Amino acid sequence: MTTSIQIILNGQSVTVDAPENTPLLYVLRNDLEHKGTRFGCGSGNCGACTVIVDGQAMQSCDMQLWAATGKEVITAEGLASDPIGQLVQKAFIDEQAAQCGYCINGILLSVTALLKKNPQPTQEVLMESLNRHLCRCGTHVRILRAIDSVIQQLNEKKAA
Ligand code: FES
Ligand code: FES
Repeated sequence: MTTSIQIILNGQSVTVDAPENTPLLYVLRNDLEHKGTRFGCGSGNCGACTVIVDGQAMQSCDMQLWAATGKEVITAEGLASDPIGQLVQKAFIDEQAAQCGYCINGILLSVTALLKKNPQPTQEVLMESLNRHLCRCGTHVRILRAIDSVIQQLNEKKAA
């Protein structure tokens, strides 16, 4: 049965008419045209579909629409409006951390969610958040270098 569900998408209130058990990923891509949210495995195992929901990195293929009701959802399209999202995006570009790029949007969102909560994560915490992401191109070293550079910039800002 189709239901009207409202979410806050990248700061804008939007209403979606869809069955409430539709995966959030499908709604974002197909109904709301936010194609930056990638469809990878579709089963919660690759992290490509990660978005931020109320501050938490979530795999949108594994989340039904009803669970996002009234919540703030940030997708890759919204990263540029977030101060930490901007830093993360720039660092990934500076380090040329993407090869095919398919996994990268999900990683950008996980890293942004993490650094917004904890700007100085331990290696263990960082690895735990990245553990949910697969990158078949193997750009892991560049990805880590980009993240280190953001953490360093955040530390410098804090010290200034
Ligand atoms: S597409 Fe959602 S975890 Fe792979
Ligand atoms: S850059 Fe291609 S899958 Fe990660």
